[in-house]
Amino acid sequence: MRIAIGSDHGGLLLKAELVKLLEQKGYEYKDFGCFTAEAVDYPDIGQAVGEAVAAGQYDRGIICCGTGIGISISANKVPGVRAALCGDCFSAKASREHNNANVLALGERVTGTELAKMITEIWLTTEFTGGRHGKRVEKIRAIEEKYNKA
Ligand code: RB5
Repeated sequence: MRIAIGSDHGGLLLKAELVKLLEQKGYEYKDFGCFTAEAVDYPDIGQAVGEAVAAGQYDRGIICCGTGIGISISANKVPGVRAALCGDCFSAKASREHNNANVLALGERVTGTELAKMITEIWLTTEFTGGRHGKRVEKIRAIEEKYNKA
């Protein structure tokens, strides 16, 4: 599994911890930045990771900002991205099983590092259930299609 990971300055420290986790677990990844504590704009990173996943260059994305909110809103503007902001393990599992989320968003200023790592591991190892959930995810795609034509 190829993973695109990125953060703004508000998620930089959490991203570093998650990069270590990906390395420990042997995942292939690319870090889309940021790389210093200097302030950057979270939409730029959300867009970059979102586009890399939507284009099929990476199978999944992981994005972090202070709350996880701004960067997830941004990534979700990219057609084909289903970014789930998760602060608990139940949501992480459900976002994969029910929503086939292809991007995980986390908030460094909200979720503790160890919990964020646990959420990430669950999210990376949980498969989409399909079935009735497939029909609903298809409806999400149909919404995108409607507004992309407009
Ligand atoms: C940056 O200060 C902060 O606004 C950002 O990391 C994020 O929390 C936005 O949603």
